[in-house]
Formats: sequence, C-alpha cells, structure tokens
Amino acid sequence: MITIAIDGYSSCGKSTMAKNLAKELGYIYIDTGAMYRSVTYYAMLNGMIDSDGNIHSERLEQAMGDIDISFRLNPETGRPDTYLNGVCVEDKIRTLEVSRHVSKIAALGFVREAMVAIQREMGKAKGVILDGRDIGTVVFPDAELKIFVKADDRIRAQRRYDELRANGEQCDFDDILRNVRERDYIDTHRDIAPLIQASDAVVLDNSNMSIAEQQEWLLKLTKEAVSASE
Ligand code: DC
Repeated sequence: MITIAIDGYSSCGKSTMAKNLAKELGYIYIDTGAMYRSVTYYAMLNGMIDSDGNIHSERLEQAMGDIDISFRLNPETGRPDTYLNGVCVEDKIRTLEVSRHVSKIAALGFVREAMVAIQREMGKAKGVILDGRDIGTVVFPDAELKIFVKADDRIRAQRRYDELRANGEQCDFDDILRNVRERDYIDTHRDIAPLIQASDAVVLDNSNMSIAEQQEWLLKLTKEAVSASE
C-alpha cells in the first residue's frame, strides 16, 4: 500500500479522481480542501468573518480547539462525507460563499498547522489518497505517487458552475471565474505552503480529458507506483 498525493489548482476535478481511485483500490480518501472549507464554515457560522470578508483571526485561533473535523463513509454514495463537530456539512461547505473566504482562511499559519497535523495522523497507515495543494510538498513529501493537476481556468469555472447548478445553487459564470482566479492567486502566493508543483510530481493537464480517460491514466500510474514500492 502506498500514499498518493494529488495536488493542483481549484476545480480541476482532483476530488473526483481521488474518490474514484480510492473506491477502485479500497484506499481511504482524504479531502483536505473539505477540512479548510469546514474551518471556514465554522468561522462564518460564528461571526468571525465580517461583511467585507475580513477574518477575526485571533478569535478563530482561540476557537481552533473547539473544531472537530472528521469523515464518515456515506453508505448510499459509498463516499466519505465531511462532519464538523458531529454534524454533516458536506453540502454546506461547497457553496460559493464558503469558496469566497476559504483561501484566506487556508493562508493562516495556525489553521494550516492544525489541519496538517490531522492529515498526517489520518494518513500515517498508508493506503491513502489525499487531495489538496500542499500534500506532495509539505504533508507527505515522501508519498510514493504525486500528481499535479491543472486545467484551463475557463474550463474549471464551467465545471464548477455546472456542479453548483446541479446542486440547485443560483450562480453567475463570471463570479465563479473570478473566484477561481482569485483562489489560484492566493493559493500560489501565500507565505506558508503555497501551491507549487513538487519536483517529483507527474503533471496532468485535464482540460480536454474525460473523467474516464483521467481515471485510466491515473490507474496505470498507480499500478506502476505500487509495483515499484514492493
Ligand atoms: O480543493 P478545494 O477547492 O476544496 O480547496 C478549498 C481551498 O482550501 C483552496 O482554495 C485552498 C485551500 N487548500 C489548501 O490551502 N491546502 C490544501 N491542502 C487543500 C485546500
């Protein structure tokens, strides 16, 4: 069993790839973006983000000990749902409102420290697939397989738009494109653990690939990495 790190830009379909691969291999899937989204949702619920988007980081830092994030397998979908303090927040954390604030929350050092510690604990037994921004560079730099995913930003925005509409959320394509670009900027320019390609990562540009094509590509790479580790 190996550790698989899937990093890359927002809305590249990393989680779809990771979830499908985890199901196929019987590995555990850890959606690290969902963890940063859950902290963001907690901060929103508790009035720690004002109407201009400013974060009351001192209050959030004090509250970090009260934030419990876990994943539980949903028997209906066969996929893990995200729980915040025992409540399923899987839908609540996927809104555009959470997406608007999450990159700023994820840039806070104390938030990253807490999330990375949980991720290392969850993944220490191997047989795990994590997706995020810093998995192959910071969380598990020794992962046996590292993938770095990118795609054209308009294609990514369109995928996000389709997903939000399918969930019944009213949204505007240009707002989403702006959000995707803004998150790319913050995620790649922050001081701590910015999004960068690990030197030993394999790059996947999936702008013009179907989900099935990606899956086939990823499975082949995974089999090679598993054999190499034996
Ligand atoms: O993958 P996602 O879009 O759900 O991630 C939400 C945000 O969380 C993203 O804008 C950057 C941040 N993130 C991070 O900084 N580090 C990770 N390992 C995962 C996500």
